[in-house]
Amino acid sequence: MELKLSGLRVIVPASTKGIMRRVVEQLIDEGCDVAICSRSEDSVARALRELSGGRGKAIGRACDVLDKEDYESWIEEMVAQMGGVDIFIPGVSAGGGSDSERNWWKNFEVDVLSTVRGCETVIPHMQAGGGGAITFITTTAAVETFGGPQAYNAMKGSLLVYAKQLSQDVGKDKIRVNCVSPGPIYFEGGSWEMLKDTMSKWFSKIERDHPGGRLGTPEEVANCIVFISSPAASWVSGTNLMVDGGFTKRVQF
Ligand SMILES: NC(=O)c1ccc[n+]([C@@H]2O[C@H](COP(=O)([O-])OP(=O)(O)OC[C@H]3O[C@@H](n4cnc5c(N)ncnc54)[C@H](OP(=O)(O)O)[C@@H]3O)[C@@H](O)[C@H]2O)c1
Repeated sequence: MELKLSGLRVIVPASTKGIMRRVVEQLIDEGCDVAICSRSEDSVARALRELSGGRGKAIGRACDVLDKEDYESWIEEMVAQMGGVDIFIPGVSAGGGSDSERNWWKNFEVDVLSTVRGCETVIPHMQAGGGGAITFITTTAAVETFGGPQAYNAMKGSLLVYAKQLSQDVGKDKIRVNCVSPGPIYFEGGSWEMLKDTMSKWFSKIERDHPGGRLGTPEEVANCIVFISSPAASWVSGTNLMVDGGFTKRVQF
């Protein structure tokens, strides 16, 4: 299958490690130019070094998506440097936790508000360029009870609603909007590696709850994010693609 990604310009915030880093690597292999950021200058510099020399080019600088002005400036700078934007993949999160109000504000500002600000900044460029694709990264915990009632699950759930309704609004501009919802994903330095060490019994239960007896990998999620964001998925919009190896138990109508 030809993904038709070569030469496209992609913005992937919060992408120096984990799932989003693997997305960036795959896009560069496909010949895209990709803009990256994270809060740490060192991590961005290291990532840019490691990503250099591929089919596509990586650009970026440190930026905290929490800082409205700097985040919007970063997007504008990246669009200017790439000469436009075809794909936007906001997959940033403040993570889980249940210490009440602090988590609710953090997840609202990082997961939701930065995504909304990002969309409002990139959409005029996509409209001017004749179209594009936006893919949010949500979670299986937004659609099935997991880890207790917490801001992470509810705020990610609100992104599903926003994505669907945004897709209706910008479809006329040839912009597609979708979500990809991963289940638990294991990688070195990720949250599930930490949980394996600190809550080993629970970790083993989560492994057993997967029909395949293991957690997913960044590669398995990135494959789906890259496909749904690519022109090969031109007739997919307003959907939520679960990528969880069968971890969720509901019937998905
Ligand atoms: N891992 C899983 O099991 C899983 C499951 C379902 C959904 N997801 C979702 O998938 C996405 C990626 O998760 P992940 O586990 O792969 O990521 P991760 O390991 O938490 O990595 C997060 C990346 O985002 C950057 N970042 C964090 N906060 C930022 C901020 N405020 N501004 C700019 N950059 C920021 C980090 O770099 P710095 O620390 O240097 O800023 C890092 O590069 C998230 O939306 C997550 O909710 C993950």
